[in-house]
Amino acid sequence: MNSQITAPPTDVDGDAALKQRHRTMWASGHYDRVAREIIPELGQRLVASLAITSGERVLDIAAGTGNAAVPAARTGATVVASDLTPELLETGRAEHPDAGIDWQVADAEALPWPDGSYDVVLSTVGVMFAPHHQAAADELLRVLRPGGRLGLLSWTPEGFIGRLFATMRDFVPAPPAGVQPPPLWGDEAHVRELFGDRVEDLAFDRAHVDVDAFPGREDFRAYFRDNYGPTLMAYRALADRPDRRAELDAALDALAADADEGSGRMRWEYVVVSGRRR
Ligand SMILES: C[S@@+](CC[C@H](N)C(=O)[O-])C[C@H]1O[C@@H](n2cnc3c(N)ncnc32)[C@H](O)[C@@H]1O
Repeated sequence: MNSQITAPPTDVDGDAALKQRHRTMWASGHYDRVAREIIPELGQRLVASLAITSGERVLDIAAGTGNAAVPAARTGATVVASDLTPELLETGRAEHPDAGIDWQVADAEALPWPDGSYDVVLSTVGVMFAPHHQAAADELLRVLRPGGRLGLLSWTPEGFIGRLFATMRDFVPAPPAGVQPPPLWGDEAHVRELFGDRVEDLAFDRAHVDVDAFPGREDFRAYFRDNYGPTLMAYRALADRPDRRAELDAALDALAADADEGSGRMRWEYVVVSGRRR
């Protein structure tokens, strides 16, 4: 892989501005609704696959409102939910005041914990959105103790959300050089390259979530435009371009229609990556 693409950011000001834009994007709309109404089972599914036991130290990276951190805490583990976007952590804390979770603002590419701090590091459709994949992969392995377990649930490039990002790419300004597409974390070869020989028993388990929340033709587009930060920001960027907004409407409707399996049901594919730190 081109090392220029995966090299950690060296332009500190530029990186801070990029992360601020990402924070604004994820705080826009109502991501808490998406997590609660559309994909709540993903956090439970990832936690179940990791067989977390009481007393283990667990880090949820890009935890949002705690989709995975909350079920992880129910196991009796000591859980830190970290995220770039304090607004989402605040919502999670308010929704789950008795969960016993430590909610911490942290960039996945520069985690504030010493090496080997955690027994389990996990992320549900979260770390995939950090823009520099190698930096994020290096950090999540750094804070995981040798022998510790890793669990990452990511949308695949071929699946519905992967295709959503590919569709929106034609309507938004190009990202800065070095920013990588989130669904690459759903590609086995890419993840193997990120981890190299630092993870043993690396496994890839493809599955899908059934989504039946969008029965009408335009329901998916309207819901994502109002609630999902990346889609909402794509529409905002086209505020003065009604023609392009209409084209984006049509592209998203076509995507949803193509994915509809009847009775308003869609399958959104993801992959669960698991392994053990050497
Ligand atoms: C799709 S949401 C997933 C949230 C949560 N894991 C869930 O399953 O509901 C993506 C999350 O990634 C977070 N995020 C994006 N870039 C990040 C970064 N560089 N470091 C940490 N978190 C980041 C966003 O703030 C957002 O909470």
